[in-house]
Amino acid sequence: MNYENLLISIEEKIATVTINRPAKLNALNKATISDLSKAIKMLGKNDDVRVIIITGSGEKAFVAGADISEFANYTVVEGAMLAAEGQESLFDFIENLKKPVIAAVNGFALGGGLELAMACHFRVASDNAKMGLPEVTLGLIPGYGGTQRLPQLVGKGRAMEMIMTAAMISAEEAKQYGLVNHVTAPAELLDFTKGIAQKIIKNAPFAISRAIKSINANYKDGKDGFETEIKSFGKCFGTQDFKEGTTAFLEKRKAEFTGK
Ligand code: COA
Repeated sequence: MNYENLLISIEEKIATVTINRPAKLNALNKATISDLSKAIKMLGKNDDVRVIIITGSGEKAFVAGADISEFANYTVVEGAMLAAEGQESLFDFIENLKKPVIAAVNGFALGGGLELAMACHFRVASDNAKMGLPEVTLGLIPGYGGTQRLPQLVGKGRAMEMIMTAAMISAEEAKQYGLVNHVTAPAELLDFTKGIAQKIIKNAPFAISRAIKSINANYKDGKDGFETEIKSFGKCFGTQDFKEGTTAFLEKRKAEFTGK
């Protein structure tokens, strides 16, 4: 499938999705959100893919936000719909995907761009990256989950300050805050992120999917994360990969996981 605003490559079970609107600093217009949503759904179902990396094209931006030109004339109802549809079709969808999704933040990650990175399971940034939620400078608040996920990642006080001041933070500050896990040189960002993906791929896919579900449960209203963990732990015992993992350990060999 060809996408207007995305480049996709699949190599050694790692799919790299590159948002490709560099002239607009990869801003998320409707077409790009729709492309991303379709691509992530398709890659989620593709058995040749175990980990998805999302990055931006060019050296300047991961994603400089939602496309301001598209919503400048929106009404109250249209604004609420923009947030609701985006959250459901893309941001929540990524967070709840059974396969790991890693953001490789290669430059500006602002507004919807930082929200996209935060919807991913974790983040790696290049040392030139700048991150922030500048929506209040436009008379808005973050609408793709930023008011929820930023405090989860950096704590309430820092999130309040970042959102109220609209300030950008550097990659190093983002690492100190716990917003990104690693900082690399720009030229090394993708290889470094793929190195983490390769480590993940060695492990049992069903167990990984259940770890994602259990960790996410802690952040969902009405869910008991401990209950989710207990059920998921139990389900792992019914998989071939559990038999393979434990047998391989006892036989002192490397496990070959199939995801079954
Ligand atoms: N929506 C739409 N277009 C955007 C955009 C966005 N969020 N961010 C950047 N662009 C466009 C610019 O309009 C410009 O297009 P043009 O060349 O046709 O005029 C192009 O991308 C390059 O951006 P420019 O502003 O010229 O680059 P810069 O290096 O001077 O500044 C930023 C970079 C990121 C600081 C600046 O683009 C910016 O503040 N962007 C908006 C960030 C934002 O508020 N995001 C939250 C949206 S909810």
